[in-house]
Amino acid sequence: MTYTTLLYDVADGIATITVNRPDKLNALNAEVIRELGDVATRLAHDPEVRGVILTGAGEKAFVAGADIAELSQLAPAAARATAEEGQQVFDRLEQGRKPVVAAINGFALGGGLELAMACHIRLAAEHAKFGQPEVKLGLCPGYGGTVRLPRLVGRGRAVELLLSGGMIDAAEAYRIGLVNRVVPQTELLATARQLLETILANAPLALAACLESVHTGLDLAQADALSHEAEQFGALFGTADMQEGTAAFLARRKADFRGA
Ligand code: COA
Repeated sequence: MTYTTLLYDVADGIATITVNRPDKLNALNAEVIRELGDVATRLAHDPEVRGVILTGAGEKAFVAGADIAELSQLAPAAARATAEEGQQVFDRLEQGRKPVVAAINGFALGGGLELAMACHIRLAAEHAKFGQPEVKLGLCPGYGGTVRLPRLVGRGRAVELLLSGGMIDAAEAYRIGLVNRVVPQTELLATARQLLETILANAPLALAACLESVHTGLDLAQADALSHEAEQFGALFGTADMQEGTAAFLARRKADFRGA
């Protein structure tokens, strides 16, 4: 698929996806969602890609939300279908077994914050701003905001953000655990790349097992989550990389992981 709203670039095993509608602050219209859906499938199947950076074009916005001009035209059934489609696309990104880092280069509002929350790790530029302003439009979030925000920052803080529709800055987002780190804008993409390089030096199947255990475990009762984790742990003992990783440690040499 040729993208009209996304930039897609792969270098050294890392795919950088840039939402590219800077004149509309990278707002998510139907085309962006469709193309993100294609990208999510492509990332999962492209053996060259081992990790992903998701960012927005320009320095002002990561993504300033769903496209309000498009939303304003929707009837209830179409709006529900729109929410379901976006949710499925964001789920596919989150459920992927390759780490996705959001490099939040400005406003992450509404669908933009929802997209960032579907990523596995969030890095923010110092000037980034965050919020779920849907209530100011007579809406509630439809791309997972009421679901992922309380899981990330706790119910009280999430409800305050959802009901006030207000914005918080990057320092506050860091304080409440909404983002992992805050860095100067000029260092944002390099920091994301360095973080992924550190991550990708580890055994690929072990990374996938961690992502799988966290993702599945969060939806299970603790005893079931522990059982699921033990299953992942056991399965890794059948991999060559586990043999290599433990042997390399004992021989005091660097491990050479193959992803098998
Ligand atoms: N949907 C559609 N267009 C959007 C948009 C969105 N979510 N967010 C910004 N834009 C467009 C603006 O309409 C404007 O387009 P125009 O130049 O053709 O008029 C352009 O992007 C620049 O935005 P503008 O509002 O002029 O920038 P600003 O610096 O004054 O304000 C924001 C920046 C982010 C505070 C403001 O754009 C905003 O509040 N956006 C909507 C956020 C929102 O409610 N998101 C949730 C949607 S469910």
